[in-house]
Amino acid sequence: MLVLKKMKKVAVQRTAYVVFLITFGASNQFNNHMKRILTWMLAFAVVAGASAKTKAVKTQPQLAFDPTIGETRTLTMPDGQMVNYTAYEGMFFVTNVEDSTYQTINVYVPDGATQQTPILLRTYVGGYMAAPTQQPKAGDATGRALREGYVVAIPGSRGRNSTVVATKTDKKAGIKRGQTIYTGRAPAAILDLKAAIRYLRQFDDVMLGDAEKIITDGTSAGGAMSSLMGATGNNPAYEPLLRAMGAAQQRDDVFASVCYCPIIDLDHADMAYEWLYNGTDSRQQGDAAVLAVSNELKAQFPAYLASLNLHTPDGTLLTADNYLDYIKRELIRAAQIAKNAGADIPDSLGFTFSKEDMGGMPPINGGVRQGGGQMPPMMQRGGPGGGKPGDYIIDLDMPTYLNYVVSTQPLKTAPAFDTQGVAGGRASGENDEFGNKSGSKVNFTDYSAAKTGSVVSDDIRENVRLLNPMNFIGDGVTDVAPHWYIRHGARDRDTSFPVPINLALKLQNAGKDVNFLLAWNRPHSGDYALDELFDWINTIVTGK
Ligand code: DHB
Repeated sequence: MLVLKKMKKVAVQRTAYVVFLITFGASNQFNNHMKRILTWMLAFAVVAGASAKTKAVKTQPQLAFDPTIGETRTLTMPDGQMVNYTAYEGMFFVTNVEDSTYQTINVYVPDGATQQTPILLRTYVGGYMAAPTQQPKAGDATGRALREGYVVAIPGSRGRNSTVVATKTDKKAGIKRGQTIYTGRAPAAILDLKAAIRYLRQFDDVMLGDAEKIITDGTSAGGAMSSLMGATGNNPAYEPLLRAMGAAQQRDDVFASVCYCPIIDLDHADMAYEWLYNGTDSRQQGDAAVLAVSNELKAQFPAYLASLNLHTPDGTLLTADNYLDYIKRELIRAAQIAKNAGADIPDSLGFTFSKEDMGGMPPINGGVRQGGGQMPPMMQRGGPGGGKPGDYIIDLDMPTYLNYVVSTQPLKTAPAFDTQGVAGGRASGENDEFGNKSGSKVNFTDYSAAKTGSVVSDDIRENVRLLNPMNFIGDGVTDVAPHWYIRHGARDRDTSFPVPINLALKLQNAGKDVNFLLAWNRPHSGDYALDELFDWINTIVTGK
């Protein structure tokens, strides 16, 4: 009887906690202080339960979606158009919630949506940090998606800076009760996002929108997450981790991924960065220790590139000898598209323009290639004729251009990502990302580890592997998204051009539909050129 009473009391306490989490955990104002108090309440409940020798009472939130409790809202777009939609917010996407601030999803359904409506899943991950759920914004792809009639899903996710207070001692993990634990070190963020996808599938029948038509979108570290959602569908390596979290037992492959400046391939991004930027004035005239590191890393890139066995769309094997020329052609393509749309392309950036009248014909080494955008009117078949001097970009001096990129924003140090302890480098966000639950910062590449006299442990190596989409494309066991939209700004130096190019080519080589561009004059940013993005989305979802 007494035991039963205690059981009931514990159950009530825990239920109250869960209700509290569901009520407040969904709101962004749910502050850490409250969370700690509640965590202690739960710890108390657990201890009380244990001392009463009761069986564990199952009070974890169940996965749930109630289509009847949505709230009707209106979003006003920049042009004044009002978009009406129904909001469903704060649903847990796992049952073993470790961090109630982040492990929830919001879903927004515009008026007129049906069971067949595609779903834009936007992650707001940035800097590999925790991302709370958000509401749709008129100025980004979420608002635009609602206006286009798409369902919008915005999951939160744990990240390298998210913490909770440990409710129990875990000797094996070296964690004491009351200790601050970092909940979001790799691969937590992608696990949360995969769990969110599974949640959408779990409730596909009762929620408007088609979980078989999920289009992921993110920028930078969020672009990395988007690429991971696209590239790791149903891969078995994530399965036990998702199971332990209490994710729905569903598939987690997606239909398409939109990746703006994805910060990926972290185990090779340092060598790619130095391979591209080693020759810039910034490196050559900079710190001698940094240049020495740059020289060593640069030398590692050709072997890595060869191991990828990438082919350009015309079938040429990409090597360290022809790669700079390929980047040059991609930059010329991007600049020509912008020029055709009216942008002024200064020759001080290293460009050479056509000098003669082309008689309506694009030059052999310039102009826009097939699929590369609209020809200027005078170039179109039956147009007024022309191809005036200066209409076409025919060459680009890469050293001049790379110095220009670096002039718009100083280079990162070398190594650019695994910085900690190398050439005087302090820990980067990525050194945090691969740290452990106690908040350690670690080297994650063999190069930097060797420089600091450490080795990359098997655990860290596996986390690095799980965070790199390059590992899964074409592996024969992973369901990689069929459609990809990848953008990297033509003056974005946060990671080097080969990183997104390698991703795009690896996908293309694996037979995927890839729309890639080094978007002209864009710095490190995302959700731009939304007309173009939504034209593309419309094409892939209608198949027209
Ligand atoms: C981001 C930018 C970086 O330069 C980086 O190394 C990691 C993440 C970001 O903006 O998300």
